[in-house]
Amino acid sequence: MNEPRSTLGLLPAIAGRYSPRAYSDRPVTDEELTLVLEAARWAPSSMNEQPWRFLVTRRDGEGHAALLDGLDHSNRIWAEKAPVLMLALVHRILHRLNAENHHARHDLGLAVGQLGVQATSMGMGMHQLGGFSPAKVRAAFAIPEVYDLVTVIVLGWPGDAAGLPQHLQERERTRSARKPLAELVHYGRFKP
Ligand SMILES: Cc1cc2nc3c(=O)[nH]c(=O)nc-3n(C[C@H](O)[C@H](O)[C@H](O)COP(=O)(O)O)c2cc1C
Repeated sequence: MNEPRSTLGLLPAIAGRYSPRAYSDRPVTDEELTLVLEAARWAPSSMNEQPWRFLVTRRDGEGHAALLDGLDHSNRIWAEKAPVLMLALVHRILHRLNAENHHARHDLGLAVGQLGVQATSMGMGMHQLGGFSPAKVRAAFAIPEVYDLVTVIVLGWPGDAAGLPQHLQERERTRSARKPLAELVHYGRFKP
């Protein structure tokens, strides 16, 4: 396996996270699901607004087919095997000021980051998807305009890459690289 992993001493739940496409048949229990959502719940947010919402569907359960149907084909072909799909939304209004919450998506990202760390620490995998049709999903679930539909999160237990369509198998075995810290971090002065 090609492994462009960090050589520094990261927490295992950060270093071990990746976005799986292969999921096993093992179901996610109510307790396991509640625990990863609880991790999201305790994220910080601007003015403690907690703008995030999660519409959770289970394979063969209510709403699952409609959410799956909203995914781009390239995502649907593997995401359909996962036991849980969750739509991640934000409420756009900061209630304390009755104004647009410009940090809503930022705060959702923090919550989903925590969800991912919790899931990884439990041996689960999660994969965020921007490749879906917000209009189609909004219509299917009659979601009011004040909510922004941001991502769909695939959650489950990582499975065998051999079960994926051929063109995705090699990708599943390869970890994605990262830009060097020197490109991302600027000390004292900014160099565009
Ligand atoms: C907001 C967001 C949208 C994404 N959309 C997709 C997607 O539509 N399809 C997909 O296969 N992966 C998607 N990804 C996964 C990224 O491609 C992945 O996180 C990135 O390549 C780094 O790989 P890693 O998560 O395995 O470290 C998305 C990730 C994020 C955070």
